[in-house]
Amino acid sequence: MFDVLPLLPADPILGLSQAFAKDSNSEKVDLGVGVYKNDLGQTPIMQAVTQAEKIHMAKETTKSYTPPAGIVGANEAAMNLIFGVELLNEIQSRVRTIQTPGGCGALRVAAELIQRAKKGATLWVSTPTWANHIPLLGNAGLSLKEYPYYDYKNHLIDFSAMKNSIQQIPAGDLVLLHACCHNPSGADLTREQWLELADIFEERKLIPFIDMAYQGFGDGLDEDAFGIRLMASRVPEVIVATSYSKNFGLYRDRAGSLSFVFADEKQAEAGLSQLLSVTRALYSMSPAHGAALIDIILHNEELAQLWSSELMSMRLRIANLRRDLVVKLNQLQDKQDFSFIANEKGMFSFLGLGVGQVHQLRNQYSIYMTDNSRISVSGLTANNIDYVSHAIVTVL
Ligand code: LMR
Repeated sequence: MFDVLPLLPADPILGLSQAFAKDSNSEKVDLGVGVYKNDLGQTPIMQAVTQAEKIHMAKETTKSYTPPAGIVGANEAAMNLIFGVELLNEIQSRVRTIQTPGGCGALRVAAELIQRAKKGATLWVSTPTWANHIPLLGNAGLSLKEYPYYDYKNHLIDFSAMKNSIQQIPAGDLVLLHACCHNPSGADLTREQWLELADIFEERKLIPFIDMAYQGFGDGLDEDAFGIRLMASRVPEVIVATSYSKNFGLYRDRAGSLSFVFADEKQAEAGLSQLLSVTRALYSMSPAHGAALIDIILHNEELAQLWSSELMSMRLRIANLRRDLVVKLNQLQDKQDFSFIANEKGMFSFLGLGVGQVHQLRNQYSIYMTDNSRISVSGLTANNIDYVSHAIVTVL
C-alpha cells in the first residue's frame, strides 16, 4: 500500500537543525530554527519554569484526563495575557479559550472550526508568511490567498500595497495577521497601521485570524498584544492562536492556546461545543504538563515576576544582537546598508541574500539559515558574531 508514497525533502526549517547537528565544523553557527539561544548557544529551561516544575511535581496527584478544554487556570491566565484584564472584562462572555498542543495545534484547530462554519473559506496570508502556515492551514481545506506584506528591496512593510489588497478582500473572508515579531521578516505593523487596518476590517467585515507565537519578544507583553486587543475591541469575531514555546521556552511540551471571540454569548457556547468536538476527533485533549506550569507561574506573583524579567532579558539580548550585527556589517562594507535589522523585532530578519549566497554560507562557513536568508538572531553570540559578519560580507 505505502509504496506509492515518495520520499519527501526535509522540512525547510526543521531539516536545517538535523543538517546542523551532523556538521563537524567546530565553528558552525545555527541561525536556522526559531528557538531562543543564550550567549553560550544553549536553550536552557527558564528558571520560573524549573521552579514551577518543582511545585507541580510536589502537588500532582493524578495523571487522569484534564477537562476537554484543558486546565481551567491555564486558560484563564492565557486570556488575561492575550486580551488584558480590562478588555477581557468587557468581552469575557463572548470569548472561549481552549488549550492546544502548541501554536501549531491552535492554528489547525481554528482552521478545522472555520471549515465547519464555511467549507473552503478563504484565508488571506501575508507574502511571505511562516512556511508552516501553508500546510497547517491549507491541508485543513481552507483556500489560501496572499496579500503583499514585505518589501524585500527596501526592507520594510509595503503598507500601501498591503492596505490596497486588503481593501479588495470580499466581506466574510479571513485574514491571517502576525500579532508581533513577524515570522519570517521581523517587520511589524506600527500602532498607526494597526488602527488603519482595524478601520478596514470593520468596514469590509473581514475576520482577523491572529497568530501570536512571540508575545514578549517584540516590545513587551502588553505592547505585543496591541493589535489583538484593538481588533477584539472593534470587530465582532476574532481568532487568536498562541504559542508558549518561545515565551515560556516550553517547545517540546507543546503548550499553546486558541481563543475565539464570538459575536455573542450564544454563539460562544455553540462555538466552544464545536471546538471541543473538533479536538476530540483529532487528538482528544492536549498535553497537560506545559499548561500546568503556565497555570502555576501566572498565578504566583513571584514566579510571574521572575518569568517576565527572564523574558525581558531574552528580548533585550536579541535587540542588542541586532544592533551589534548592524554595526559590524556596516563597518565591514559599504555595498549594502543593514540598518533595517536593528529596526525589526523578535527572532527573525531577512539578510536579503540569494539562495546561492545562503548555500555558500552553509557549505563554506557552516552558517545555517533558511534558504530565504532568514536568520534566527539569537543564534548569534559574542563568540561567533565576528565570524558570521565576515562570512556574510564575503558572500555579498
Ligand atoms: C521557526 O519558524 O523557526 C519556528 O517557528 C519553529 C518552527 O516550527 O518552524
